[in-house]
Amino acid sequence: MNKRDAWEGEAANWIDWARATGHDSYWQYGPVFFDDVVPPPGRRTLDVGCGEGRVTRDLVEKGHDVVGVDASPTLLAAASAADHRASYVMAEPQRSRSRTTPSTSRSPTTR
Ligand SMILES: C[S@@+](CC[C@H](N)C(=O)[O-])C[C@H]1O[C@@H](n2cnc3c(N)ncnc32)[C@H](O)[C@@H]1O
Repeated sequence: MNKRDAWEGEAANWIDWARATGHDSYWQYGPVFFDDVVPPPGRRTLDVGCGEGRVTRDLVEKGHDVVGVDASPTLLAAASAADHRASYVMAEPQRSRSRTTPSTSRSPTTR
């Protein structure tokens, strides 16, 4: 089972968990995270792995124009139903396999 299917299979449980205040450290560290780590609102904020959307909703409250991305259709539907102010996109980001050679790794030329 891949990660997408695993999260989709647990979507209902995750929604209950994420929305039950105090169940995880988000409720404890969230305020510090938003005040000290997250940059101020800019042109667009991407919330990758947005789940049922609690982080997206909090970002919107702080003035961000947010796109929430997740691989689980059930979690995205829950996020969208809870708050229409953000945009939600179903996607599963892949690790990039860049073939670009960094300029610092060029071989020295010999004469
Ligand atoms: C632990 S939950 C966190 C949800 C949300 N960020 C929060 O704090 O409530 C992880 C989320 O990442 C999503 N996810 C995991 N791997 C992913 C991938 N490769 N592409 C897109 N979403 C992914 C899952 O579907 C799940 O909604």
